[in-house]
Amino acid sequence: MESIFVNSKEVFLDTVNAKDYIQLDRVSNIYQSLKNSIKKPLKLILLYGRPGTGKSMFLAKLYNDLSASQAIYLYKTPILDEKEFYKTLARDIFNIKYSGELNFTQMMKIIDNANISIENTKEVPVVLLDEAQLYSEALMEKIRLLSDTRAIKFVITLHKTEEEDLIAKEHFQTRIWESIELENASSAELKIYIQKKLMKANCFNTASMFTTPTVNKIHKLTRGNYRDTNKLLYTLFDIYVSYEKNNQYMDINKIPIKYIEMAAIHTGLIDA
Ligand SMILES: Nc1ncnc2c1ncn2[C@@H]1O[C@H](COP(=O)(O)OP(=O)(O)OP(=O)(O)O)[C@@H](O)[C@H]1O
Ligand SMILES: [Mg+2]
Repeated sequence: MESIFVNSKEVFLDTVNAKDYIQLDRVSNIYQSLKNSIKKPLKLILLYGRPGTGKSMFLAKLYNDLSASQAIYLYKTPILDEKEFYKTLARDIFNIKYSGELNFTQMMKIIDNANISIENTKEVPVVLLDEAQLYSEALMEKIRLLSDTRAIKFVITLHKTEEEDLIAKEHFQTRIWESIELENASSAELKIYIQKKLMKANCFNTASMFTTPTVNKIHKLTRGNYRDTNKLLYTLFDIYVSYEKNNQYMDINKIPIKYIEMAAIHTGLIDA
C-alpha cells in the first residue's frame, strides 16, 4: 500500500509546473489584472517579489493559460548572450532562422518588416522573461527599446533582494508601465495553500492535520514564503515517513509542535 506520508511529502517538492498551480484569492486578483494588462497597449510589465513568492509559478500559469489563444513565449532561463537573445526571438516570434550573428539593428529591421502583419492580427506576441535580474543592464536597455516598438510585449520577473532594490534602478523607472509585486502568504492564505495542495493529491487525511494553530506556527517560521513552506513540509513528512518505517507510534490527528520544530532545524529555518 502506498503511504499517505510519502505522497504528502512529494506534494511539497519544490517544482514549478502550471498543473500544480493553486488558486489563491490575492494571487488570482493579481493574475486577472495581469491578464488584462497584457491586452492593453502597455509595453513592459514587471513582476517582482522576494525569492519563493511564486513568480516563476505565475509565469508558468500565464503561459499555460494563454498559449492556446495567443502568441506567447516563456524563457525560464535567461539568454544572457545578446546575439543569442535576438536569434531566439527572431526564430520563435518571426520564424526567421539565422545561422550567423544577429545584432540589435538587424533585430529592429526584422520587427520593422513584420510590423504590418502584427497590426493585422492585433495580437502582439508576449514574451515572458523569468529571472530578469540576471540580464545585463545593456541587454535590459535593449529589451526596453524592443518593447518601445510595440511589436513585442515583455513580461519580466525580477527577484527582489534585501540588499539591492533593483526596481529603484533608473532603467526600471522610466518606461515601466505596470509593476506588480508578489508577496508572501498571510497565515490564512498559507492554510489554504497547504490544504489545497494536499487535497489536489488526494491526501485528505494529512490536509486536515493543518489546523489554524499548526499553520500559525508554520507561518511564524516561514513568514508565509511558499518555497520555505515547501521545504519545511517536505522535511516534516519525511520525519513521518521514517517514523512509519520504524513502526513508531504517531498521532495522526494533530501535528506535534516538536515535529515542526525538528523539521525547521533540519531545513535551517531555526538554529539548533
Ligand atoms: N500559486 C501557487 N500554487 C502552487 N504552488 C505555488 C504557488 N506559488 C508558489 N508555489 C510554490 O512555491 C515554490 C516557489 O515559487 P516560485 O519558484 O515560483 O518562486 P519565485 O518567486 O520564482 O522565486 P525566485 O525569485 O527564487 O525565482 C514553487 O516551487 C511552487 O511549488
Ligand atoms: Mg523563480
